[in-house]
Amino acid sequence: MGVVSVKDVAALAGVSPGTVSNVLNRPDRVSGATIERVQWAIDRLGYVRNGAARQLRAGQSRSIGLVVLDVGNPFFGDLIRGAEDKAVTAGITVLVTDSRENTDRERTQVALFEEQRVRGVLLSPVVDARPSVERLRSRGIPVVLVDRALPDTSVSSVSVNDVAGGELAVRHLIEQGRRHIAFVGGPMSIRQVSDRLTGARKAVSEHNGVRFEVIDTPELSVPAGRHAVLDLLGRNASARPDAVFTANDLLALGVLQELILAGNLRVPEDVMLVGYDDIDFVQAAIVPLTSIRQPARLIGETAIDLLLSEADGDPGFAPRQVVYQPTLVKRASTASR
Ligand code: RIB
Repeated sequence: MGVVSVKDVAALAGVSPGTVSNVLNRPDRVSGATIERVQWAIDRLGYVRNGAARQLRAGQSRSIGLVVLDVGNPFFGDLIRGAEDKAVTAGITVLVTDSRENTDRERTQVALFEEQRVRGVLLSPVVDARPSVERLRSRGIPVVLVDRALPDTSVSSVSVNDVAGGELAVRHLIEQGRRHIAFVGGPMSIRQVSDRLTGARKAVSEHNGVRFEVIDTPELSVPAGRHAVLDLLGRNASARPDAVFTANDLLALGVLQELILAGNLRVPEDVMLVGYDDIDFVQAAIVPLTSIRQPARLIGETAIDLLLSEADGDPGFAPRQVVYQPTLVKRASTASR
């Protein structure tokens, strides 16, 4: 037998398809004996209800879409976990995908969620969020931005003050006595990266005698971090930074790996290192990394609350831009020996 339908169940149970539908959706309208007979037929035939069709008929999908920048980045893994833990309590499924930091791919994934008429979308935009937000809203699908905010206060968002985060990182390195600091990160089109650099420059501007340089990277990954160090390793001591601040922890892990493999530079003695996100791996690194912590799970939880409040038409709903503050977590990679 192919896909078992409601009609098949009704025929075996000797009732109408409408009675089967009531057993599934309004059992209070059906006698116990009929429920037992229909359940017997469902079990006998292995009938599984079509949730998507039911959701579409109801106009109330039980799924939300989540588009992150990179599912391979543990920061987004923690954000996803926070969103899922909160969504499950509301009986909502979180459909996760990523843009791989590519605007065309972001547009494709947003269109897929639109076709599936999801209840709402959480979006960590690559560059400009407005096209995706306007497209979804025009179809009546609520959107909450995660890890980014828009000047448009009609769009809810949950993000972290990345300018403050960059400032925290570089101020810490300066307080540790470092005077030649390199920022490693990119592409600068990603707002999180440019904001962290803005904060770093602000901290440098508050101190005389600090040399600052920027090493741009094509992506926010471990290999990009490793490659960024190659230039530094070829320099003589007077031209080499004595500290590196990276736009995220994956870059920092790459920088650390390359410095250790090179063998002639010690962390933190010769080069101090600060990352960003405070993912679990940085605690386990061969030199535990100092990092700027983002409350990734809390970002996910808060975003779900905002999205469902709008999707459910809560009377008290109003768009909100929630901004969390980052914190400095000190570890061996910036310890004064
Ligand atoms: O995806 C790039 C970075 O932006 C992540 O590492 C995290 O820091 C996010 O804010």
